[in-house]
Amino acid sequence: MEIQVVSLSETERKPVPTENLGFGAVFSDHLFKQTYTPDKGWHGATIGPMEPICLSPAASVFHYAQEIFEGSKAYRGPDGNINLFRPWENMRRFNASARRMAMPEVDEEDHLQAIIQLIELDQRWVPAAPAALYIRPAMIATEGALGVHASSTYLHFVLIGPVGSYFKEGFNPIPVYISDKYRRAVVGGTGEAKTGGNYAASLLGAEEARRKGYSQVLWLDAVTGRNVEEVGAMNICFVYGDKHIVTPALSGSILPGVTRKSVIQLGRDLGYEVSEETIDVHEMLADVEAGRITEVFGCGTAAVIAPVGRFGYQDKEYVVNDNQCGPVSRRLYDELTGIQFGTRPDPYGWIYTIEVDEPVAAAGVD
Ligand SMILES: Cc1ncc(COP(=O)(O)O)c(C=O)c1O
Repeated sequence: MEIQVVSLSETERKPVPTENLGFGAVFSDHLFKQTYTPDKGWHGATIGPMEPICLSPAASVFHYAQEIFEGSKAYRGPDGNINLFRPWENMRRFNASARRMAMPEVDEEDHLQAIIQLIELDQRWVPAAPAALYIRPAMIATEGALGVHASSTYLHFVLIGPVGSYFKEGFNPIPVYISDKYRRAVVGGTGEAKTGGNYAASLLGAEEARRKGYSQVLWLDAVTGRNVEEVGAMNICFVYGDKHIVTPALSGSILPGVTRKSVIQLGRDLGYEVSEETIDVHEMLADVEAGRITEVFGCGTAAVIAPVGRFGYQDKEYVVNDNQCGPVSRRLYDELTGIQFGTRPDPYGWIYTIEVDEPVAAAGVD
């Protein structure tokens, strides 16, 4: 793929913020875009200034939510080089989401090259550890015609921006509300795909949970309302004793997380027994109360590992590990972030390194 690059001059580029980054509010100077039409397929690949996109108010994405996205991160290594973590997994999942949403696939190698080129151009936006650069590819349906059918035209774009902690709690236990009122996704629906509608369906439940003092919602399966599925933007794991990690099996309505897959492999190699199971919420909560479950943590790109300190369910509180972060969560966090930031060896070949020619930007810690 030939990418036409229209880059901003030094004076047109924005200053790079180095503190209070938060999550997802700051974007770099440039954006990758390409267009799909039935006659030409994907074409017109450009990296140009980060600016608004102009669409017909009739564009299908606005009415029928035909859209997908991805989320991964780039990490600044101690040598100043930039590490992408398992980017091939995200390229594959993007196309799996595209297939589910009746959208055209993109060439995975081209997609990755576009991301690499964008990061190379905006490399000063990659902050020093422990902050990172968030990478957000998306595809939207752009046909300007009403009527429920797959769009004939699409826009694929990638934006990037530096991020600090996903949770205001940082690496401290978060409170999670288990919704018995709303459901996020159903088998046969779109839960396995990374598509906006799943997230839209979760917003009201998430807002209600927030008003009750919880950071996230744990979703149960939509058929029985008993099986634990995943948290708003993370998969979930339970630690039994000090050696057994259990995570819900991929049921068809759970997003197959890259971090989850990494935790399963890393956990096994660190000597834990890791199993994928159907987890009944009542049994799980009884195990928390009895202390059989010693730790709970969410895992996802944004927070990497997020310990859960307590659950709320049907007006009752269930405290996990005295609301403290436990050793298994800590160890997995240290091991995973060590590989991501390049401070530990990567025996798995998970890292793709972009060698850079500019000095490291200042740390962007919240
Ligand atoms: C609903 C949902 N589940 C799980 C995850 C974790 O996936 P990953 O580890 O690939 O970030 C995410 C984040 O992308 C998510 O949005």
